[in-house]
Amino acid sequence: MKRGMKKVFAVMMILAMTAALLAGCSADGKGEDVFKVGLVQLMEHPSLNTIRESIIAGLEEEGFVDGENMEIDYQNGQNDMTIIKSIVQTFVANECDIIIAIATPAAQAALGETSEIPIIFAAVTDPVDAGLVDDLNVPGGNVTGTSDEVSAEMIMELAKQITPGFKTIGALYSSGEDNSASVIAGLKEYAETNGFEVIESAVTNSGEVQQAAQYLADKADIVYSPIDNTVASAMSVATDVFNTAGIPFYVSADSMVMDGGLATYGIDYTVLGKETGYMVAQVLNGEDPAAIPVKKMSDMSIYVNTETAEALQIEIPAEILDKAVVFPE
Ligand code: TRP
Repeated sequence: MKRGMKKVFAVMMILAMTAALLAGCSADGKGEDVFKVGLVQLMEHPSLNTIRESIIAGLEEEGFVDGENMEIDYQNGQNDMTIIKSIVQTFVANECDIIIAIATPAAQAALGETSEIPIIFAAVTDPVDAGLVDDLNVPGGNVTGTSDEVSAEMIMELAKQITPGFKTIGALYSSGEDNSASVIAGLKEYAETNGFEVIESAVTNSGEVQQAAQYLADKADIVYSPIDNTVASAMSVATDVFNTAGIPFYVSADSMVMDGGLATYGIDYTVLGKETGYMVAQVLNGEDPAAIPVKKMSDMSIYVNTETAEALQIEIPAEILDKAVVFPE
């Protein structure tokens, strides 16, 4: 081999070895103690990113450090079920020790590919409705995790305090997300018993959010979105429409308020992410996911965006502001 060729060959070898190291679930040559962790996130939006970072922080608190005794192969599913399926298939083929799935559709895809590798899900709104577990207390299979259950009823009660007098509630959500379906069912029940009318506008992808929002802005007194990933990824488009039309837009997650929604009553996703990390650590330490109950978050707070309130010329009652987390910070 010529000298120049040798150099090229050496560089190629180094590149190949680096690539093998980066692919966390493939053999890394570091011995048995390095856990291979496949992490699939439905898509990138602020809340899911916070959850991922907090899972990693929670794992670190428990002594599991990426790049040391654990290799995390993080993959972004880009809200595309074909991509997510192939990500999980790769995790399974690479014999990951555990799969972390962030958001409902990612968790469903993971369970669809393996009933053996432990799966810890994060922020699944309704794990039973989504078909992940039969019993929250005794998951039974290879899957458990954290839930960010929300109550449409409590958010509507908050809406009554902030913007009293509304009659029609526009529901903006994605028809492909089971996490949204169960919250919308709760909203309809609430509306029926309390004399409100619900007008629905469902999207199938984030590109449809603007038109769906405009439809509701023309018809409803207020608009509500469940913990919907597709809407969460298009918040700037939605808030533009609603602020221009003067429509209060109630949401379901802190990040959606940070991104311009008027208000919500919900959980802290940093806490949820850490709790998920602790559960992953439990399983890496040898516990059986079948026996670890699904964890719901008990601490809820009111979140309010005062900039949005100002744009809508809404005065947030002092007794709400006093106990609320306020954006912009
Ligand atoms: N709960 C959602 C699900 O089940 C995921 C999620 C977490 C989310 N935080 C969010 C969605 C914030 C929208 C906004 O898939």
